[in-house]
Amino acid sequence: MKHLLKLLDLSREEIISILDLADQLKYETKHHIPHKHLEGKTLGMIFQKSSTRTRVSFETGMFQLGGHALFLSSKDLQIGRGEPIQDTARVLSRYVDGIMIRTFEQKEVEDLAKFGSIPVINGLTDFCHPCQVLADLMTIREKLGGFEGVKMCYIGDGNNMSNSLIVGGLKVGMSVSVATPKNYKPDSEVLEFAAQYGDKFSLVTDPFEAASGADVVFTDTWASMGQEEEKNERMQAFQGYQVNAELMAVAKPGAMVQHCLPAYRGQEITEEIFEAHADEIFEEAENRLHAQKAVMVKLMK
Ligand code: CP
Ligand code: NVA
Repeated sequence: MKHLLKLLDLSREEIISILDLADQLKYETKHHIPHKHLEGKTLGMIFQKSSTRTRVSFETGMFQLGGHALFLSSKDLQIGRGEPIQDTARVLSRYVDGIMIRTFEQKEVEDLAKFGSIPVINGLTDFCHPCQVLADLMTIREKLGGFEGVKMCYIGDGNNMSNSLIVGGLKVGMSVSVATPKNYKPDSEVLEFAAQYGDKFSLVTDPFEAASGADVVFTDTWASMGQEEEKNERMQAFQGYQVNAELMAVAKPGAMVQHCLPAYRGQEITEEIFEAHADEIFEEAENRLHAQKAVMVKLMK
């Protein structure tokens, strides 16, 4: 594994080995056992979109690993004034030991990896959010003990989160069912990938059908970063796709709820369900730190 560009590139074994290392690093962090695997190394973090979790968890994670992280806002970089990604990749490769990038187009992340000579980590694109889903898989395994026989569902927009959850969930062996309105389906490349899993995958428009008997219920915002102008139209299109008490009643009793955050209460999830599952949701947020530290150690040590 040279980069983390999308989960489609990773084998099941690579994913599990990241999760195993993440568990170990979480234990070491909690018990104050030093784990400075990246002493003297620097991570450059390019952000073309806002972030709370990704920025703070990468920066803190790098510090805990003995390294250093640089926050590079695209507003201040020459990228913002038109310097091509090919040149940015070649320049940064001469200064830092790894790059994390959050941007719009997946192609930009792929190009950074293609033209640079250091590991590249995708911190969210319009296509996918692999770091988030590694943390999600870690949280599910932590709570449920494994993936065998686990049914995961995703309700809402067929966005970056749905794309990565489908790929990650299927690769580790869960059943995955997704409900989206018909004009908001997951990416076709992801649906093609999922097709090889037969009845372990289903895409429907009825959220109750997708959530029926689920062990884990996922949702995400109805309007992702970059879609602000579509907000009103989307609020209409996603009526009926809310994770609420009615929907949870058809899931398995005691089912987990996961949300990558930020959450919009009263839209994709009710306040009641969010707060009832807050411990799981914030554990999921914490696990970003541990999962990404594992990714950085794997790629940059
Ligand atoms: N879940 C997530 O990636 O959060 P941020 O946008 O705050 O980084
Ligand atoms: N789908 C959301 C995820 C935020 C972490 C977005 O892209 O804005």
